[in-house]
Amino acid sequence: MTGLVSLVRGLVHGRAPTAEGLTLAAPPERKRVDLRKAVNAISDVVQNRPRPLRVFDQIHMKSGDMVLQSEIIADWADGKRLAFIGDGDAISVCVAYLRARDVLNFGPSHITVFDFDERTVEAVMNFADRERITNLDARLYNVLEAMDPGEPFDCFYTNPPWGASNNGESVNIFVERGMEATAHTGEGVVVIADDDELEWPKRVLASVQGFAAREGFYVSRMQRKLHEYHLDDAPELKSCNLYLAALPGNPTRVESVAITDPNRLENFYGLSQEPRVRYVRARRRLDYGVAHEDEYELEMLESGRE
Ligand SMILES: C[S@@+](CC[C@H](N)C(=O)[O-])C[C@H]1O[C@@H](n2cnc3c(N)ncnc32)[C@H](O)[C@@H]1O
Repeated sequence: MTGLVSLVRGLVHGRAPTAEGLTLAAPPERKRVDLRKAVNAISDVVQNRPRPLRVFDQIHMKSGDMVLQSEIIADWADGKRLAFIGDGDAISVCVAYLRARDVLNFGPSHITVFDFDERTVEAVMNFADRERITNLDARLYNVLEAMDPGEPFDCFYTNPPWGASNNGESVNIFVERGMEATAHTGEGVVVIADDDELEWPKRVLASVQGFAAREGFYVSRMQRKLHEYHLDDAPELKSCNLYLAALPGNPTRVESVAITDPNRLENFYGLSQEPRVRYVRARRRLDYGVAHEDEYELEMLESGRE
């Protein structure tokens, strides 16, 4: 039960499988992961996740990949303050919950989610409240507005709109906010498209790496083709983890301004889809784990009629 996550983690971290196959030993300081507990915890989070709005490029990661991704991110951000710039996938909640449930014995000291979708913000806050996770919170925030993180974070994570139609500029905007959340002195993981056959993901990767370099960051690592999505029109399209880190001595920058340049906002969510919405507001508090009343109607048995 515990070997699969260790094996995949070993492969991702570049370690070879042992002769015992699936029983690759975890690093000594890390507890072995109970896969059943991990998958069931992720399942709790998925139940709580609002449904994706495709028009804002919300496309959810598949559950198996969320298990692996959560463990990778908990390991990377162990003991650190971590900001999520947008998180419809709810990797933030998975990371905090796996730690709270003691499935993982490592993880960030604090997690804050910044998202413009109030349903996501509420889902994070409600889950944290229900499960008594005190080191997880969320704030309503639009990346086009200035970032004010309060106490700077050590690192950021973003799975942004992938910028297929704007050469990655929407990715760069989310990355910029992540860098600002760390006062330009931290590290980040950017989850973006990764495909050998298509041209645009390569252009986006180059654009993001160029942007990072101009901001005083370098690419410290890349884990290729790791995640799959519930994406009807491109089910094969995968994403990678692109790791960025501030160069030593990168000057601390705390200023942040609104982004209004129309050239940067063109095709933000896809072709001809400029950002026009400040916040997605939640109409009413929904229990996402159960069917909504407007999804179905009841046709009664004869004996069931009044
Ligand atoms: C764009 S989606 C990318 C796909 C990702 N797999 C997901 O579904 O979360 C990432 C997150 O960014 C958020 N987002 C989109 N536009 C935003 C904006 N202008 N400001 C802040 N968050 C935004 C979405 O609500 C979503 O939670």
